[in-house]
Amino acid sequence: MNELLIRGRLLTFRDTPAGPDDTASYSYVEDGAVLVRDGRIVSVGEYKAATKANAGIPVADHRPHLIMPGFIDPHLHFPQMQVIASFGAELLEWLNKYTFPEELKFGDRNHAARIASAFFDEMIRYGTTTVSAYCSVHPASAEAFFTEAERRGMAVIGGKVMMDRNAPTGLIDTPQRGYDETKSLIDKWHGRKRLRYAISPRFALTSTPEQLEMSGVLLHEHSDCYMQTHLSENHAEIAYCMELYPECSDYTAVYEKYGLLGQKSLFGHCIHLSDREADALSDSGSVAVFCPTSNLFLGSGLFPYFKLQERQKPVRTAIATDIGGGTSYSLLRTLDEGYKVIALQGKKLDPLRAFYQATLGNARAISMDDEIGSLEQGRFADLIVVDAVATPAMKLRMETVTTLAEELFVLQTLGDDRAVAETYIAGVAQKTGLK
Ligand code: GUN
Ligand code: ZN
Repeated sequence: MNELLIRGRLLTFRDTPAGPDDTASYSYVEDGAVLVRDGRIVSVGEYKAATKANAGIPVADHRPHLIMPGFIDPHLHFPQMQVIASFGAELLEWLNKYTFPEELKFGDRNHAARIASAFFDEMIRYGTTTVSAYCSVHPASAEAFFTEAERRGMAVIGGKVMMDRNAPTGLIDTPQRGYDETKSLIDKWHGRKRLRYAISPRFALTSTPEQLEMSGVLLHEHSDCYMQTHLSENHAEIAYCMELYPECSDYTAVYEKYGLLGQKSLFGHCIHLSDREADALSDSGSVAVFCPTSNLFLGSGLFPYFKLQERQKPVRTAIATDIGGGTSYSLLRTLDEGYKVIALQGKKLDPLRAFYQATLGNARAISMDDEIGSLEQGRFADLIVVDAVATPAMKLRMETVTTLAEELFVLQTLGDDRAVAETYIAGVAQKTGLK
């Protein structure tokens, strides 16, 4: 039996905060302890009570830092680590000029293995304990991704992209090949340890109707798998989509036509949706994923975060980095940019809502809140230790902070990987010891 008491200031959310003063939405213990046994949380509470009841168990003392559930990043591309910081293009040019040439390299399994290892190192460094990631079209890239996640004991969702047009020859499969390769990857990886598969037609522009149809068949045959794709990111993309699918009334209708909406369907971007499209996402329980650093970097637009959630038919939302359109691996930097995108729409992303979204909110969005996203008995001990005085500038700013919400806002606005002092996966510290 492997046991550990993790001591610090515990913060976990119970529900969506109604506003910056909603203290009922979270639980906070000033001197708390999480008791971990064999990777899972056994109890959460006051340190004094925990140590009395569990004398002799080793203690990892992280005071005065915060301990919270690990961040969840529900949309990013692991083959795009060397695409970040590619200058000067909007989405379609960016894909053709920078992204596709880089993804071509993932036919080489050595390259895929090297980048997968670097990718999960960065996740740990930035405090991200679960991802939903796109791999390249090559099955070898998905093999590398899952192999590395399994080795680290992480709960991840991933899938090879399917694309059968509008891309270089080396990145193109066919409807049948996409189907066959996806099916054998599902058979091998989905449900193994903490791994899940996402059926991943890249987007309507790089899939023929036949491939989207096959994607729908796959999802129907594997209804416990996820589906991930891109939707309504950029005006040129939307216009081209409507040329390719003239029979559909709008972009969302394309995915609807092939049965790709649903509770486990994650749609990246969703910036320019009509009311009808938002209704369709809402009715099906689909998730719209907000990728602020990417949307700003590529000049795609402003995600209507509160508008989607506060409409009569609310749309489920998540927040993500979208590496490598996104410009930071950090969910803290992502929350900061999210704040600015929302500010430009006359609203504010308060720190409670922000930290809720990056933890329990994202866990709910990917339907994994029974496993991760909160400090609760029975959940996996995927935790991070967060330091609000990690840099001289943060330390100085923290001198004037008097409340937890203010501390969280300092983290949200100034924090990055330096503010993540430790990352635990299933109760095992992983950041100390990283190169
Ligand atoms: N749409 C289709 N593929 C991609 C991608 O890799 N990144 C972004 N941001 N949008 C996409
Ligand atoms: Zn993306």
